[in-house]
Amino acid sequence: MLPNQVFFIPNPSFLDSFTEYVKKEALNVVDCGAGIGHLSKLLIDKGIKTCAIDLYPRENPQTEIIQMDAINFPFSAGMLAVIARPCHGDWVPLLIKKAVEAGAQVMYIGLKKNFGQDITGLGLAHWIFSKDAGVDGEYAIVFRNRKNKNNAYSVYGDNITDMPSGAIRYKRYHKYSKRKMSISILRFTGIGLHYYVTVEEDNNQYWNEKEQVWQRFWDDDSVKGIYDTKRFNTLKEAEAYIKKVKRKYKHHIIETPEEDIKYYYDVHGG
Ligand SMILES: C[S@@+](CC[C@H](N)C(=O)[O-])C[C@H]1O[C@@H](n2cnc3c(N)ncnc32)[C@H](O)[C@@H]1O
Repeated sequence: MLPNQVFFIPNPSFLDSFTEYVKKEALNVVDCGAGIGHLSKLLIDKGIKTCAIDLYPRENPQTEIIQMDAINFPFSAGMLAVIARPCHGDWVPLLIKKAVEAGAQVMYIGLKKNFGQDITGLGLAHWIFSKDAGVDGEYAIVFRNRKNKNNAYSVYGDNITDMPSGAIRYKRYHKYSKRKMSISILRFTGIGLHYYVTVEEDNNQYWNEKEQVWQRFWDDDSVKGIYDTKRFNTLKEAEAYIKKVKRKYKHHIIETPEEDIKYYYDVHGG
């Protein structure tokens, strides 16, 4: 359980323009790293569909918080991932990229001094929504992708019988039919020191030629790839496990290069 500290306190004018934007774009908000859920509560009170998620439980949350790693949230078009005053670590740029790739919009809310570690060098289209979002002078920056052939977002919906002609499986779309897999190590220093290794296979979606998007259907159970997280007490054990996974899935394209696999979380910060 973490203390009930609150970091981002929005200015009323920001809340108003945020509400207007979200309603105009018909977005559902995912408050990533919601803390006690105070921002979510304010948004829900404004009639915005909001889901609060956080890695850790809190005493006396202000709304229901789903306890999960935001990296694993199934983002899609029509969603706005809000990351307000995050504790710094690779999860922030990773989350922004992942959500934008999935077709969601992302609003990063943070202090200018933290841009360097949180959002610099992402290479994504963005615009400044506000330079005065909260009482500490936070900036709010929106990232979103434009749909195009080479960098298309994916959608989720419809039934498989509605699949348009020309749709082909992700597996077949890629050379040699190899399925991609990513491996990451998380060094967790929150409560004791542990290492988490996450192995994640890409979804085996359809390429919808007509709409130029990756598509998953409601009734397509076979779409899900392997997703597994294991906990280790030492880095050596974690690395030995990764070697084992790489041997087992040697026909996959393992995406995460060795030097990039260490993601650090620090539960304190803001
Ligand atoms: C500095 S606090 C800010 C909380 C809140 N947004 C605020 O402004 O008060 C950052 C929060 O991010 C959460 N967090 C860190 N990594 C996360 C992850 N991968 N997924 C979800 N939440 C995460 C932490 O547990 C913490 O509650």
